[in-house]
Amino acid sequence: MTVQAYRSAIFHVLGDPARKPEGQAFEYWDDGGLLVEDGIVKSIGPWTDVKHQLPAGTKCRHFRDGMIVPGFVDCHIHYPQIDVIASYGVQLLDWLNNYTFPAEQKFADARHAATMAEFFLDELLKNGTTCALVFSTVHKTATHALFKAASKRNMRMIAGKSLMDRHAPPELCDTPESGYADSAELIAKWHNKGRLSYAVTPRFAVTSSPEQLQSAGKLLGEHPGVFMQTHMSENKKEIDLVRKLYPDAKTYLSVYEGAGLLGDHSVFAHGIHLEADEYKRLGRERAGISFCPTSNLFLGSGLFDLERACAHGIKIGLGTDIGGGTSFSMFQTMNEAYKVCQLRGAPLDPLKSFYLATLGGAETLNMDRRIGNLLPGKEADFVVLDLMATPLFAHRFALARSVAEKLFVMSILGDDRLVHSTYVLGQLVYEKAAAVRDGKTDQKRKQTKSNV
Ligand code: GUN
Ligand code: ZN
Repeated sequence: MTVQAYRSAIFHVLGDPARKPEGQAFEYWDDGGLLVEDGIVKSIGPWTDVKHQLPAGTKCRHFRDGMIVPGFVDCHIHYPQIDVIASYGVQLLDWLNNYTFPAEQKFADARHAATMAEFFLDELLKNGTTCALVFSTVHKTATHALFKAASKRNMRMIAGKSLMDRHAPPELCDTPESGYADSAELIAKWHNKGRLSYAVTPRFAVTSSPEQLQSAGKLLGEHPGVFMQTHMSENKKEIDLVRKLYPDAKTYLSVYEGAGLLGDHSVFAHGIHLEADEYKRLGRERAGISFCPTSNLFLGSGLFDLERACAHGIKIGLGTDIGGGTSFSMFQTMNEAYKVCQLRGAPLDPLKSFYLATLGGAETLNMDRRIGNLLPGKEADFVVLDLMATPLFAHRFALARSVAEKLFVMSILGDDRLVHSTYVLGQLVYEKAAAVRDGKTDQKRKQTKSNV
């Protein structure tokens, strides 16, 4: 039995602040304790209580200027799109054709895929993200490479091979039959293996024929518990094209619903330009939307209506949507989410932001019994933040008078510099100081005096 103890400020969310009575949506201790036994949270609370529960000889790490928070959950990201981050000048459909499809073609090479899978997961952990719902390319081998790399790190990850049988370069197209067979093979090998799960992944209605969407629905019917991820209602031209390609469908969502792709294990990326009926159907089926603000602003897609989606009971998580999105950091994602909500006239409070980035994401992925906060019995995926990471952070945090204000400052100013270390199932998997020693980053720590 391995027991570890951590002492630090600790914050985690217990529920959606909009649905919990004031003060009951989170727990925070200035001097907190976290006890982890064999990768599972055993106890959490004020250090003065937790310290009495340590078995004799337990090692304790004390992060004096740190704050422990649950690992972040990224509900929408593309592992093969690192090369296209920051590609200039166009909106969704041209961006796919000019930049994204060429980058994804490189993943036919198994060596390239294996290298990029390692890079991708390292980048997630460096940013404190311990769980993600991930798009792979159309290639089966590239998808195996991603699962293999995640399995090595013991990460909780859901991923799937993209299904595309039209409106893409021939090198990136499968067929309804080959897409079905490859997905079935990947499900058999990886779904429910350790902490991994599979998501059937039709890219979007533009690049899948009606036959392929039907075969995706068949896969879901045959494998209960498998997830479904796709894109929907992101860009006006995309929506017009879907209307032309599926003239009999009442709405964009009904294209997917008709193929059996709408349910409580379905996560739709974006959902910016939804119709009234689509909000209702998504809420009624307890489906999820990933809100991807850095991508939505970068690609000029539009402003997601978070308030309206929440009012319909749709599960919402945050997604970075790398490489339409511009940062792996969930802090930067919260930052842009705040601005999207400002432009909609409904400021996003920091407790809600942290809820979306942790427990809300876990709920969207039906993983909230296992992750999302640090209640006893949950898997010990957590991040230690360095509140003194830079002189500006240190200065601004010192002025913050409440937990909510500290969280807000983090969400606006934060990025990977704030992440001191990341733990997966109680194991240290990333440490900024170690990364500096290893020469993996040129960041200089201790620009300011830090006790983390
Ligand atoms: N719609 C279809 N494919 C994609 C993609 O790769 N990124 C984004 N943002 N939207 C999409
Ligand atoms: Zn996407």
